[in-house]
Amino acid sequence: MTILDRDSAWTAIESHPATSLAELFKADGERVARYSRDVATIHFDWSKTHLDDTLSAAFEALVDAAGYLQARDALFAGEVVNASEGRPATHVAERGQGSATDNRLAAERHQRMRSLVDAIEGGAFGEIESILHIGIGGSALGPDLVIDSLGRDSDRFDVRVLSNIDGEAFDQATWGLDPGSTLVVAVSKTFTTTETLANLDAALEWLRDAGVADPYGQVIAVTAAPEKAVAFGIDETRILPFGEGVGGRYSLWSSVGLSVALALGWGAFEELLEGAAEMDRHVKLSHGLANVALLAACADLTYTQRFGAQSRAVFAYDERLRLLPDYLQQLEMESNGKAATADGKPLGRRSAPVTWGGVGTDAQHAVFQLLHQGTSTVPVEFVAVIENEDSLDPRHHQMLLGNCFAQGAALMAGQGDDDPARAYPGDRPSATVLLTRLDPRALGALLAFYEHRTFANAVLLGINPFDQFGVELGKQIARKLDDAEGRASLDASTRDLIERAGL
Ligand code: F6P
Repeated sequence: MTILDRDSAWTAIESHPATSLAELFKADGERVARYSRDVATIHFDWSKTHLDDTLSAAFEALVDAAGYLQARDALFAGEVVNASEGRPATHVAERGQGSATDNRLAAERHQRMRSLVDAIEGGAFGEIESILHIGIGGSALGPDLVIDSLGRDSDRFDVRVLSNIDGEAFDQATWGLDPGSTLVVAVSKTFTTTETLANLDAALEWLRDAGVADPYGQVIAVTAAPEKAVAFGIDETRILPFGEGVGGRYSLWSSVGLSVALALGWGAFEELLEGAAEMDRHVKLSHGLANVALLAACADLTYTQRFGAQSRAVFAYDERLRLLPDYLQQLEMESNGKAATADGKPLGRRSAPVTWGGVGTDAQHAVFQLLHQGTSTVPVEFVAVIENEDSLDPRHHQMLLGNCFAQGAALMAGQGDDDPARAYPGDRPSATVLLTRLDPRALGALLAFYEHRTFANAVLLGINPFDQFGVELGKQIARKLDDAEGRASLDASTRDLIERAGL
């Protein structure tokens, strides 16, 4: 392997001569195999990206210079990898893949969570039919995605996820629910988040208005700050704790997944964890770019740093995964949308791109025009599932997959035309993630892949992916609206808007 320091490795990546995808395929008959990986029933095809041998060698040098292996091992060992907050990141321990101590703590908390699931199922909270999950950001997006993906035809609890402060969201989430048979699951790592506490207050009022004698008795709190939940009025016996080291956007696997376990059953929740653990083991044991998360991160960085991409698009060619882009937006943008390195220096290069996306084939009739002919470089990622479980003739699913694969082919091949308006430049990159089937295990592995890829991107860039100071200023300014002095300190445009809205 070429030994380069970090700067020289970046220079080699940034100055790498562009070779078209068509040429790369022509030059290498083994390209598909070389840039594909199979992990946990998922096929990852990165061959339609511009990675090649030289670029891969430069990335291997960067991996070395940036200390990825040490950082990865530190993550799994439960060392402090979130330096700005002085914490480890223990989500892998929730899957039994962390340090012995962290694994034991996580297993104990899971045991408590399981007992609660059994108690709810056994009627300890009365005849519960529905769950109102209240939380925002990482305390909502993961559970919402998993329940929406796998719980659609479940005959278990009707789980609704409420995140937004907007009263319309509350009305929609509670529409048709019987307060008497609804259990409220309030999830907040800090138990200080304005939206969650305001929605919890509204839910308590909703229960009270419906004549529920002990509204607090129908609330479970899931938090890393149990003392705050107690101060809020929730009995200790109805609080499920989780560790400080579990970051919000990495928290699905912890007690935060309570609503998932209720919606899908404990067995399915365990399968989800096991799928994630399988991906963890792959990442832990793979060498170099055999590690699929690292391979994908190298392609991500090729596009942001070498080709100037400002966004990346993810299209789920499976309606069950329609919330995947929303989940990935928080995971990737809150983790790596930062202008400073972990050691407090200016990043000096592009941070994470904007993650966006949608579902296929809908998106083909809305945004693919720009992907095929626009002037921006947008690496595209397709996520599809081979086995279908829908009620229609299998030809529907074949058409769905056919369209997915055709889009990737068209982006890459392009098509010349004398009329520029009708010409497709081609040479546009895409990657395809192909699941054999969508079950809890595969979904666990898929989401863990995205976590590890985000971590790999962060390490190669030198970013700490586990803090999120960028979300604080807006919260502080919102609090200024509470008093006249604070309002007076705001700019003229904002003051005018406040006045117009009668706040
Ligand atoms: O404001 C951002 C954020 O802190 C996210 O990082 C987090 O997932 C979300 O808010 C919710 O926070 P909490 O779980 O503490 O309510």
